[in-house]
Amino acid sequence: MTAHEEKTVYPAKAEPGQSGGMAEYQAEYEASQADPAAFWDKIAQRLDWFHPYNSVCQGDFHSVAVNWFANGKLNVAHNCIDRHLKDRADQTAIIWEADDPADNRHISYAELHREVCRLANTLTASGVRRGDRVCIYLPMIPELAFTMLACARIGAIHSIVFAGFSADSLRDRILDCQAKVVVTANEGLRGGRVIALKQITDKAVEGIASVEKVMVVRRTEVEVEMKPGRDVWLHEELAKERAYCPATWMDAEDPLFILYTSGSTGKPKGVLHTTGGYLTYTSFTHERVFGYREGDIYFCAADIGWVTGHSYIIYGPLANGATTIMFESTPLYPDPGRYWEVIERHKVSIFYTAPTAIRALAAEGSSWVEKSDRSSLRVLGTVGEPINPEAWEWYYREVGKERCTIVDTWWQTETGGIMITPQPGVNDLKPGSATLPFYGIQPVIVNEKGEVQEGNGVSGHLCIGRPWPSMARTIWGDHERYLQTYFSTYKGYYFTGDGCRRDDDGYYWITGRVDDVLNVSGHRLGTAEIEASINGSELISESAVVGYPHKIKGTGIFAYVVLNRDAESTDPDVVEFSVREQVSRDIGKIARPDVVLLVKGLPKTRSGKIMRRILRKIAEHEYKKLGNTSTLADPSVVEGLIEAHQAFV
Ligand code: WT7
Repeated sequence: MTAHEEKTVYPAKAEPGQSGGMAEYQAEYEASQADPAAFWDKIAQRLDWFHPYNSVCQGDFHSVAVNWFANGKLNVAHNCIDRHLKDRADQTAIIWEADDPADNRHISYAELHREVCRLANTLTASGVRRGDRVCIYLPMIPELAFTMLACARIGAIHSIVFAGFSADSLRDRILDCQAKVVVTANEGLRGGRVIALKQITDKAVEGIASVEKVMVVRRTEVEVEMKPGRDVWLHEELAKERAYCPATWMDAEDPLFILYTSGSTGKPKGVLHTTGGYLTYTSFTHERVFGYREGDIYFCAADIGWVTGHSYIIYGPLANGATTIMFESTPLYPDPGRYWEVIERHKVSIFYTAPTAIRALAAEGSSWVEKSDRSSLRVLGTVGEPINPEAWEWYYREVGKERCTIVDTWWQTETGGIMITPQPGVNDLKPGSATLPFYGIQPVIVNEKGEVQEGNGVSGHLCIGRPWPSMARTIWGDHERYLQTYFSTYKGYYFTGDGCRRDDDGYYWITGRVDDVLNVSGHRLGTAEIEASINGSELISESAVVGYPHKIKGTGIFAYVVLNRDAESTDPDVVEFSVREQVSRDIGKIARPDVVLLVKGLPKTRSGKIMRRILRKIAEHEYKKLGNTSTLADPSVVEGLIEAHQAFV
């Protein structure tokens, strides 16, 4: 970011209910730092507790034995549904906007209550007990919300797998958490295309002993093979159950869900979130960050298969009694005007999406935006990767007509909720900056040596200095990996994996991952898992994957591949096709390399470590900035790489 860009400032908009502005934020932020227990004790009163907790927060980042609201008892489904029935039974809780623009459904809180209860009873009847894992492999249909909340109601732990992941990815996740039940659909519909979810599930669960039942939602009319004794149609099971099920008293620290995310090494890790702190934090941030007000129609366009959907389509908004939209389709179906049409149709006041979608839509031109009335909009959110100032400006001017606040929200699967962000009516905005920490969050910037960088105008690695309520508590089945990944790099701090700059005004600018994690269209992928997949191809002996700047995706996937000696084909097109197919099959389409470059050898140190820095620079055409290559086992490899790249571009 240049100094010039850092100086572009848009003053905070006047927001009713936010009269205190920056001064109030500062006072509240300071209070949250000075006495976190007193601060969060007050905030936690927004939830219904069956039984009070006897301490607010215990633990720090040295011991990392963190717990929030110890001994407090509550239930997430009760907080998201039951407690609203008194005042808003008939209010719409969920607006389901189907793939087909002509099809949508309004689900009231009363209806949500009935559906969730019935589903909870169905799970119980299938043998699911408190603490059991339920894997959910569903598209964006109401049953997805019902199943999550049903799990929460009976204390089962859900593990949602994005419906774009492959059978192998699904299988790994089911095995890792030893799910007892898998909930899927016969087919999914997205952008007019059909996804054969049941078939994929059949492949994934084959031979897995833990899976006792596969429940199938009938999303389309197509018949699928049902394995007797294992597979059941969900609608048939629901018909057997009554629409009342008491909510289980859960402990504040009981697990709520597992969500798998990629790291820099090894297989995806099962990030575990718990009950009381998670719900307190997601509901509080949903209200403050989006300036949520009674009567708002709230539209987060993410998929519930990612953490954004967990926290800001379902749990945060429903805990606040909001009306939340579940969107089954894509921003380009049937045409690039779809989001804006949804906004007009449902009079959306708050819209939340990702930079990759903003860039893709900006590339289609503003005429699509102008076709729809957007006067209901007040706040526009973005998440998933750094937003480039051009995309920010387009969102601000063309979508928001300079009337709306843009909230650039930085957070992670592991943080559970939004950590660094503007607040409407509170702080001035700078395009490309996530601005300031949320209450209770203490960002710390450290340099490579682990020295804390005090004051403004500094940059380094972003850490967090003290526990917050919605932080991940462990990695499922591997607490050691949790400690290792997040708390060992910088002692006493949670390490985010992101680079960051704090400018002269104290605003934060996230510069992207500093580890071997790629952020492709806002989706996290580990280079190691993509390489493992590529190396599984019969043509390939080894590979190295790096990210490179991509106009729409933010980061594109660049794969350097070395052929097997006896590879059947050396035709670059054949190799490229086969590598892309291999990755699609193993992980899913989202992980498919954008570029596959055939090379003779990879740049390795004498100890055999691949020097990715060199590969990144070549992928970025920065041939002159490779840095020191003298530690390579064979420095001449570099020329071969540059030649191959030049021939390719
Ligand atoms: C990584 C986390 C949190 C939901 C979606 C992604 C990047 C996320 C921003 C932002 C700059 C961002 C970071 C982070 N990221 N939001 N507003 N500005 N970077 O969750 O898959 O866990 O990925 O996404 O690099 O570490 P995730």
